[in-house]
Amino acid sequence: MTSVLPIHPFPVHATTQRGPRRDDRPSSMVGNTPVLRITAPFATDERGFWAKLEGFNPGGMKDRPALHMVERARARGALRPGARIIESSSGTLGLGLALAGMAYRHPVTVVTDPGLEPILVRMLTAYGARVDQVTEPHPDGGWQQARRDRVDQLLAEDPTAWHPDQYSNPDCVAAYRGLALELRAQVGDVDVLVCSVGTGGHSAGVARVLREFNPAMKLIGVDAIGSRIFGQPVQPRLMRGLGSSIYPANVDYTAFDEVHWVAPAEAVWACRALAATHYATGGWSVGAVALVAGWAAQAHVREATVAAIFPDGPQRYFDTIYNDDYCHEHGLLAAEQPIEPVTIDDPGRVTVQSWTRCDAVAAPGRRV
Ligand SMILES: Cc1ncc(COP(=O)(O)O)c(C=O)c1O
Repeated sequence: MTSVLPIHPFPVHATTQRGPRRDDRPSSMVGNTPVLRITAPFATDERGFWAKLEGFNPGGMKDRPALHMVERARARGALRPGARIIESSSGTLGLGLALAGMAYRHPVTVVTDPGLEPILVRMLTAYGARVDQVTEPHPDGGWQQARRDRVDQLLAEDPTAWHPDQYSNPDCVAAYRGLALELRAQVGDVDVLVCSVGTGGHSAGVARVLREFNPAMKLIGVDAIGSRIFGQPVQPRLMRGLGSSIYPANVDYTAFDEVHWVAPAEAVWACRALAATHYATGGWSVGAVALVAGWAAQAHVREATVAAIFPDGPQRYFDTIYNDDYCHEHGLLAAEQPIEPVTIDDPGRVTVQSWTRCDAVAAPGRRV
């Protein structure tokens, strides 16, 4: 029989530890990530922004929701001791679930698609997860819908298995309380928060908590060109992590003051510029968020505290964003520094192809 771990591996209410840390188990390494001041070439020295470096978690930002969703499901009895966890992921949540599975002793299946970087397939496997790859996109809902359909099939085959459903599980949003409290302890009240949006979990969760302290805080969402989330027609996307071909229920549309769409070449420019100037960089969402946060820091008063969430680090992108051959092949290296976005009034009327913003944010179409 599988034993039950007696202790909560990561309290979502955790705040910053003082002094060098010491961890007695892998899951307690999650949280207490650093923040770094980002300035030129994204912003001036006087008007930089704070980046919360979630890539310092063992698996990235989604270690937090993975541990919290598993802990809550076990407490509710929805996840029985030793039962399998089955989830669709473009990678980051998969890493977190591999950690949560280890912490709580559950086998884990990560359903993914051929776009998953080979290094992640190997790392997930090394961490003990089973990687199940779909081979064809869904005709309307793309890879995400194809992965969800495969999850349903696997769940039907294993009635004891549990599905976290990061797209609509409220625990996935609540899990970011710790991140928000850490950020506030590190930089004080936040006036402008910039978050990428994929499932919508961290933008909703972090903004909700920071607004308990500063109700006037502005939330800027960052999406990918070709993503459906904020009312654009769906197109094939190179960028992973942010963006979606479905409407995730965890996206809190009413929380956003404005949305930006960023193109892959612009994100590549930003990722490489971050690497060259700050030694802190990451993937598509990190580049896109940095571009928008730098712009936001210039667009607001000098005293405004602007913060951005960097969800992961650069390693898994060594063969895409940081690979010249890949970038040449996809036309991603020609971009000059993107200076400012085009502004549109209605995302339903224009299909955007490069950095664009809109401050009318409404829930489009059907929600899953
Ligand atoms: C690397 C990366 N960035 C950004 C996101 C978007 O975060 P959220 O799903 O909380 O909207 C994800 C989600 O999977 C991700 O993996």
